[in-house]
Amino acid sequence: MGDCGYGCGVTPEVEHLLRELDEARRGALKKLDGLSEEDARRGTVSCRLRKGEPLVDSPGEMWDRRFAEQAWPTDPDPYLVELASPLPSGRGLDLGAGPGRNSLWLAAEGWDMTLVDVSRVGLDQALMAAVPLAARITAVHADMYHWRPEKADFDLVIVANLHPGPDALAVILARAAHALRPGGHLYVVGHHMDNPRRHGPTDPSRLFTAERLRAAMPADLTVDVLDTRRRAFSSGRCERPDESVVLAWATKPSAPCSTHRCSGLPPE
Ligand SMILES: C[S@@+](CC[C@H](N)C(=O)[O-])C[C@H]1O[C@@H](n2cnc3c(N)ncnc32)[C@H](O)[C@@H]1O
Repeated sequence: MGDCGYGCGVTPEVEHLLRELDEARRGALKKLDGLSEEDARRGTVSCRLRKGEPLVDSPGEMWDRRFAEQAWPTDPDPYLVELASPLPSGRGLDLGAGPGRNSLWLAAEGWDMTLVDVSRVGLDQALMAAVPLAARITAVHADMYHWRPEKADFDLVIVANLHPGPDALAVILARAAHALRPGGHLYVVGHHMDNPRRHGPTDPSRLFTAERLRAAMPADLTVDVLDTRRRAFSSGRCERPDESVVLAWATKPSAPCSTHRCSGLPPE
């Protein structure tokens, strides 16, 4: 995480944004000085400006508040269930896991799951939900852009519903691919750009199409599935219309076999 001087761990991109906003805040404060106390009390922004609080939260704080205020879905992603069910249990990594709906399902199936997230609240919810399942999960409170696994030997890496923008997505997927052992699998899913009522970020450039996801997939993986599918969507108490998602399932090729032992050929 960047040492941004804001008392928070953020990516360089967000750090830059925070600096710009701080400058804007200082400019706005000068203007506010000319307003009456009552005017300044009217809006949250004015109040925050007067108190000198940052105008935006770090991603961790933003997601902490969201998970604390709204129930997050608990059902695992149905296409992950379809694709991962035939696999023997192994070591799994869930990047941006949130409250861990996918990891909790895998852990209940015998997987040893590591969850990485900037939201302490999301991770705590995952840890609490793991107790009644007697499930084994490891929660890592970290920024996925900076975190490195001790050993890059995961059998499955999940990147579910993260929409950081095309360039950053390629960075995350490259890290995910790096964390896989040869023969391991990567699962990616995100909201389709063309949903009539958009879920996910409001910025369309962050939403997925099959072409965008293909372009962001690491070149060293074999893409087995790249598809647009319908997904029933329920969020806590709130039922929403079905939506389209774009998903990919890819495999890290096993190390090429160069010896006569595995090729079956006699030694030269
Ligand atoms: C839309 S939620 C998805 C949660 C989960 N993958 C799921 O499908 O239910 C996005 C998650 O990504 C996490 N996140 C966002 N930026 C992150 C970063 N730079 N490093 C780690 N986690 C991050 C958020 O805290 C949040 O939990």
